[in-house]
Amino acid sequence: MRARIYVTRRLPECVMQQLEKIYEVKCNPYDRNMDQEELKEAIRKCDVIITMLADRIGRDIIELNPDLKGICNYAVGYNNIDVQAATESGIPVCNTPGVLTETTADLTWALIFAAARRIVEADRYTRAGKFTGWAPMLMQGQDIYGKTLGIIGAGRIGEAVARRSMGFGMKVIYHNHHENKWMNEHLQAEHKTLEEVLKESDIISMHIPYNQETHHLVDTEQFRMMKPTAVLINTARGKVINEQELINALQRKQIAAAGLDVYYNEPEVPEEMIALDNVVIVPHIGSASCETRVRMAELVRDCAAACLAGVMPPAIVNPQVIKGMR
Ligand code: GLV
Ligand code: GLV
Repeated sequence: MRARIYVTRRLPECVMQQLEKIYEVKCNPYDRNMDQEELKEAIRKCDVIITMLADRIGRDIIELNPDLKGICNYAVGYNNIDVQAATESGIPVCNTPGVLTETTADLTWALIFAAARRIVEADRYTRAGKFTGWAPMLMQGQDIYGKTLGIIGAGRIGEAVARRSMGFGMKVIYHNHHENKWMNEHLQAEHKTLEEVLKESDIISMHIPYNQETHHLVDTEQFRMMKPTAVLINTARGKVINEQELINALQRKQIAAAGLDVYYNEPEVPEEMIALDNVVIVPHIGSASCETRVRMAELVRDCAAACLAGVMPPAIVNPQVIKGMR
């Protein structure tokens, strides 16, 4: 009998076809995310489930299939999965690190430029027929070159964002659990406290995973530390920032602008946020390039295959589960 894989959202076609050749593949037939009831149905009838970051895979769902051989998340972040519950059940949880690093760093820079130079607002203005002539005060934004870039979370993506600043003659400072030696050596970056990074940066960019420790890492007090000209970028997870406080800060012009790829209660974006001109909002597209979405699918395919074979997957967040199998 062929192993059964359930895919909660259709992946790039080339990889779907590869999976279908080897496994009995079932897939969410709809062009929308699955709800909890549908996920419960799906997990009962498969050996490995390939999940999306929008699928909440809690203990209640995981415990429905004690024979499950793997949960492979089509994302680098895995805060949507109760890893503790999976580990207790001996189920490997896989993700897609590395392959999306550069693409997410590119999108981060797109948001930096767009927010600092008011690109989206200026585009709306021009389309609305409001451009009646060059003007000295028109759409003045913040310079990027020569400024201080503050990276919060200097892992793979944070480092790739920092590396791109070299062409702009920026000073790089960062907050991280430990020093990033590559950044210190190659970018003369400085490791600082969160408070120092918030106080000294012109552009602040979030690159930490979401967990209990990073919940509301940026809150009322942290907004008070920022410069009134600061530009805040979030391509990590919505809940690392207190979103209501961000809205307040943008309304009061306590900071200059923000660029967001992620939200507190995705896919909801608060009306008050939408009403603001000084925020650029995109729909969680950090890794959304054609090439990277294929690479992510290939990695998830390889992880699923390893889970089914009971060997160490190329990317796993709870490797102790595999060691325990032997
Ligand atoms: C995207 O947010 C991811 O975690 O891959
Ligand atoms: C602007 O277009 C300039 O020429 O200064």
